[in-house]
Amino acid sequence: MRIAVCPGSFDPPTNGHLDIFERAAALFDRLVISVIANPSKQPLFSIDERVTLIAGMTAHLTSVEVVGFDGLLVDHCRTVGAAIVVKGVRNTADVDYETQMAQMNRHLTGVETVFLPASPDTSFLSGSLVREIARLGGPVDTLVPEGVRHALKEKLA
Ligand code: PNS
Repeated sequence: MRIAVCPGSFDPPTNGHLDIFERAAALFDRLVISVIANPSKQPLFSIDERVTLIAGMTAHLTSVEVVGFDGLLVDHCRTVGAAIVVKGVRNTADVDYETQMAQMNRHLTGVETVFLPASPDTSFLSGSLVREIARLGGPVDTLVPEGVRHALKEKLA
């Protein structure tokens, strides 16, 4: 069984993440979407909130499981039995950054990383831009799934 981990901070999860989740789910037998509990910056949404939001937006994907994790990604991959990490890349800056991490992770345990190029209609999206637009009262309805839009509204009210 091919199990892949799709890791990230997902603060908040966006339509760009959803695009990657759907495409990755079609490529592997099981996809474990793994939400880092403590990203370097203080997250807007708690780990439980981010896991719940992603579970809601991926409810139609039967091979997907959403979990939180802390510590090294390679250790988490071992725990869930995944030999593959799948990451979305939007531009060359992402490729540079992700390549270094992919090489380090492969050096550590042999885990392979597969890059999926972001779809053109979502490649300008980022969690940080979505947070800023929402904080400043801008429209996010074309950027995030409906559940996330509601959660942002509640969080920033
Ligand atoms: O959404 P992000 O911020 O791009 O996700 C980055 C993430 C969580 C995938 C990365 O920071 C990570 O793997 N963190 C776990 C700690 C770790 O394994 N660090 C060594 C990476 S080579």
